[in-house]
Parts: sequence; C-alpha cells; structure tokens
Amino acid sequence: ENTQQKQLIELHEQTVKLYHHILTNTKMGQPALDYLHQRGVSDDTIAIYQLGYAPSQRLLKPFFDERKTDFQLLRKSGLFSEDQEGNLRDRFVDRVMYPIRNGGGQTIAFSGRLLTANSDMPKYLNSPETEIFNKRKVLFNLDLARPNIRGKDPAILFEGFMDVITAYQAGIKSGIASMGTSLTEQQIYDIKRITHEVVISYDGDTPGQKAIKRAIDAFNQQQSHVEMKIISVPDGMDPDEFIRKKGADAFKQLITHAQAPIEFELSYLKKQFNLDSEVDQSHYIAEALKLISQVDSGISRDLYLNRLADEFSVDKKLLSQQLAPLTRKPT
Ligand code: CTP
Ligand code: MN
Ligand code: MN
Ligand code: MN
Ligand code: MN
Repeated sequence: ENTQQKQLIELHEQTVKLYHHILTNTKMGQPALDYLHQRGVSDDTIAIYQLGYAPSQRLLKPFFDERKTDFQLLRKSGLFSEDQEGNLRDRFVDRVMYPIRNGGGQTIAFSGRLLTANSDMPKYLNSPETEIFNKRKVLFNLDLARPNIRGKDPAILFEGFMDVITAYQAGIKSGIASMGTSLTEQQIYDIKRITHEVVISYDGDTPGQKAIKRAIDAFNQQQSHVEMKIISVPDGMDPDEFIRKKGADAFKQLITHAQAPIEFELSYLKKQFNLDSEVDQSHYIAEALKLISQVDSGISRDLYLNRLADEFSVDKKLLSQQLAPLTRKPT
C-alpha cells in the first residue's frame, strides 16, 4: 500500500461520510432514506453498511475543492467523470450509495443504485477500475463476514448487495457477494483461503440458475476441495426478496436442505430435455451418467445410479456397465 493508495482510500472514507450524512441527516436524502426503509433496511443496518446518497445536485467536487484536494488524486479516484475540457464532475448522481470495502475493511469503491430502475441507465453504476479497485478481485462484505466464517458458519455466496445486507440484518452474517453472476478465479481463491464450505445462493431466476452451474464448474476447475452446497431460491425470487417475504428461519431451512452440486446439476440437466421423448431420455441418461461418474464416493454413485434406474425403469446393471469406463476413482 503506497502513499497514493492511502490517499485514495482516505478520499473514499471522506466520501462515505459525506454521502452517509446526506442520506441520514438532510432533506435532500429523504427520498433515498424512504426508499431504503421501504425495502426493509433498518437505520442500524444503514449505519453498519454506511449506506449513502449521492444527490442530483453534484456536491462532491465542490466538497473536495474546498479542502484543496489534489486534482490528480481526484482524477484517479474514479469518483468523477471527465469532460472534453478535462473538468471533473461527480460520477454518481441521484443514486443510493453502497460503499465497497476490501477484505481489510477499507472503502475502495462505490456502487450507486437508481431509486427507480429504468432501462436508459444501469440499475447499479460501479466505480471504474482504479489503482485500488478491481471488481474481479473483491468480494462484497468479506470484511464483516470473515470472522463469522472462521467461527464456522458456512460462507454464503450471493449475487448482490441487498442479498448480503438483508441476510446480515436477519442475523445471517456470513454472506459475501460476487457482485453479479460472474464468479472470478480470484474470488474463488479468496473463498478457499478462509473456508472449506460454501453455500451458493444465487438468484432464483434463469440467469441466476445458469450462474450456479458456472460457479460449480469454476470451483471444480480450481480443484478447490471446497465443499459446495446449492440453494435454489423458489419462484424466481432472489435471497433478499425471499428473506423479506418468508423470514430468516425459512432461509436457514433452505441452507439446511441445500443440495449437493451433483443434485443441482442433475435437475438442471433434466430441464434441458423433453423427457416425454425416448430419444431425449437416452440422451439425458448418457449425460447424467457423466455427471454421476464424477462423484467421488462409490456409495453415492451407486445411490444416484439406483435413482436413475428407478426413474426410467432401466436395468441398473446396464447403467453400471456404462458408468464404469467413465469413473475416475474406483472407490
Ligand atoms: N450488478 C452490477 N451492475 C448492474 C447490475 C447488477 O454491478 N448493472 C451487480 C450488483 O452487485 C447487484 C448484483 O449484480 O447487486 C446482482 O444483480 P441483480 O440481481 O440484477 O440485482 P439485485 O442485487 O437483485 O438488485 P436490487 O434488489 O437492488 O434490484
Ligand atoms: Mn422512512
Ligand atoms: Mn440477479
Ligand atoms: Mn434484488
Ligand atoms: Mn437479485
């Protein structure tokens, strides 16, 4: 951490305070505060996460000008956009501000959410890549979740800010977010460093389900020896919506009944086929055998084989014969 990085972090900490103050103590911030209250976010949670509001009236630039903050530092912070003439303007306008902290708890970026989503502008606008921020290398909430994960709660991997925050408020304090559906190698590496157990809890919509499949593959590819469990949130809800509608206990039930990756993959695979057709049935069975062959435990493989045989009324011996050459480990 060099001097410039320290200064950039300091700039972010000041910005956190300003935006938080505007949200919680000013008339300008009232609509944003109401928005958060309507979403069920408590004042305690707003304080813990230091949520803020960047008003329509750009005031970050004047704030730092008054303090004679170095222009080049402001330029490199990502908090401003630059016009043709090289003038800086506040990047975040009329957005609820989510500070993004690194693993050490320092704020290194922001994401700003529109109060009302519309199609012209992105719902969440993130800081650009800077000397202190690379989105691919950050897990949202890692600093707050880490002690709980180390204290033996499974790491719960969410997509979004509000999933983490709503879970935290409900007492589920080991949540982290990939900030979208693409989980990176670096994020997996950071998860591996602190735990052997991760519960993947992405959104119940189609992109979320596809992302679960990709996340399983990514963990497997890194041969991470991390035990994965998969939650499928029902009815296309995301975890934030689910917890608010059904409560923390219902979500803890989902965790308790989380699926092994193989089970998720088998049911995900099944959805790709029309099982009324016998051609599709045999394709499904062939693909399912490939998945089952990758299960480490011989007993588990046998159980899944039984299930498959029952489900399609096929001879288990035949399935075993087809499985044998595919299997990595004869246990
Ligand atoms: N995201 C992003 N930029 C976008 C959209 C999404 O960075 N334009 C990231 C955010 O971290 C977001 C996550 O991807 O939290 C998941 O996206 P999505 O499920 O679409 O949003 P939600 O988190 O459900 O947002 P909200 O509940 O506030 O609508
Ligand atoms: Mn209110
Ligand atoms: Mn989503
Ligand atoms: Mn949501
Ligand atoms: Mn979501």
